Amino acid sequence: MFILPEAHDSPKDGQQQNMAATKVGFGEAALFEKQRYSAKRSPGRVIHVLIAAVIITALLVKTGSLGTVLGHRNPAKQLKNIQKCSIDTLHKDLSFLDNARPIQAAEFIQRRDRLARALDQNGVDAFVLEPGFTFQYYGNVSQPDWEPGEAEERPFLMLVLPQRASDGSVSAKTAFLAAHFEEGRARMLGIPSRDEELDIVIWEEHWNPYKTLLESRLFAGKKEKQPTLMVEEEMRDFIVRGLQNNGFKTVGLSPEAELVHQTKSPAEIEIIRAVNTGTIVAVRAVRTCLVPGLTEDEVTAILDNTLLSMGFVTVFNIMLFGEHGALPHGGFVTGGKKLTLDSVVIIDVGARYLGYTSDICRSFLIDPPKGRRVPEDPLRAEKEKIWRIVFDAQTAASEAMRWNNTAASVDIAARSVIDAAGYGEFFTHRVGHSIGIKAHESPYLNKWNTVKLSPGMTFTIEPGIYLEGKFGMRHEDIYRVTETGDAELLTGRRARGLYDP
Ligand SMILES: *[C@@H]1O[C@H](CO)[C@@H](O)[C@H](O)[C@H]1NC(C)=O
Ligand SMILES: *[C@@H]1O[C@H](CO)[C@@H](O)[C@H](O)[C@H]1NC(C)=O
Repeated sequence: MFILPEAHDSPKDGQQQNMAATKVGFGEAALFEKQRYSAKRSPGRVIHVLIAAVIITALLVKTGSLGTVLGHRNPAKQLKNIQKCSIDTLHKDLSFLDNARPIQAAEFIQRRDRLARALDQNGVDAFVLEPGFTFQYYGNVSQPDWEPGEAEERPFLMLVLPQRASDGSVSAKTAFLAAHFEEGRARMLGIPSRDEELDIVIWEEHWNPYKTLLESRLFAGKKEKQPTLMVEEEMRDFIVRGLQNNGFKTVGLSPEAELVHQTKSPAEIEIIRAVNTGTIVAVRAVRTCLVPGLTEDEVTAILDNTLLSMGFVTVFNIMLFGEHGALPHGGFVTGGKKLTLDSVVIIDVGARYLGYTSDICRSFLIDPPKGRRVPEDPLRAEKEKIWRIVFDAQTAASEAMRWNNTAASVDIAARSVIDAAGYGEFFTHRVGHSIGIKAHESPYLNKWNTVKLSPGMTFTIEPGIYLEGKFGMRHEDIYRVTETGDAELLTGRRARGLYDP
């Protein structure tokens, strides 16, 4: 996807959710209805119905059409079969997960050291953050890890302070601010640390937490000078104002501080590769099992369950058939449209594995059932043509994705291909964004962004063309900026054609 997640594409802005446990069930409801219905019948009628059923079954067995009837007349059973088909297909080869390992404790500490060096460069006294995606990046604690229900009204803060050793090297001193009664819980979070015990400044409920922080050992000798805090962008406003009103100066993120999380480590790259490749493999597995007549909602549930079956957490899943695909993020009325042999299916889906998120998109047609010809389709030639233009735009963008090129140059490369083909006005969004713990991270690939690309940055490249009333198409893969020239594809393989996503 290409804009920050909104209500309709992400249940909760992509935060670590507890969704993995909820298997999406279809069929159960329908079966339950059926049982209730038969329970109401009188014994006499039941006998008549049974006799009729025996006769009909005998006829069907004789004519050999029992399987067909079971397959097509029992939607719940049909859905279960399709679900099984797609999970079985996926599980034939899960080798894309082999190189993904959880991030080790030492890496969290290294991240904070790199941040400390950026802060030192910026002349900042400390970086402040509260539980969220960035806290997860530096301390392995997400917002729901700290507060599963809702974000807490009491500040619980992590501070990263640059400290200079006698040899001149800069490393991170990590400290925390917590309410006294939360101190024990904070220690139990297992935040990776060099220190034997976390350094926690505590405040009592009737104290001013920000004043307590200013007067603490962390800012000894500095409090008269208004220490400067770099505030993470997820930080809630009341905390920023609390800090400002009690003797701190606050500044926003600097490019140097952002570069720390924008530059992915080899361990991060392998997880990003695994989750994104796996998400596409799941889409391919689902596709081979699809038949005409399924609705967008049904295919969404099949894909979600397929992703959950390999231990991924679902984050968003945009499923659009035919004309619905002409709005990049769909609309309010999607869900019920039925699949046909000539519907262009757009699936833009993200999942999470080992804390990292995927974001991929495929546009395809399903295969006609064996022995059936592809139906006449007046839009067929245009579909082939648009598929190819979008593919060529993605290729051009990936070729522009080089060390020291600007973010803008990648967007412009894709746009030039689509403009030259005469469809410029139908490519309505930026070409991509960075990706990591969040599906959408900076830098953003739009034609005004002059940020320079550097090795280790990972991006989506997702050009699209949207033809209102007809269909839309988008191809989205993940790439890494390398030291040596060409960007590296992190999604296994690209799409090959309308019938081979
Ligand atoms: C990070 O947290 C996860 C649970 O959220 C845990 O399984 C993992 O071991 C932690 N990693 C480290 C290095 O502590
Ligand atoms: C990119 O720019 C930096 C300095 O700005 C330079 O050190 C580096 O060699 C450049 N890389 C390439 C591939 O040109």
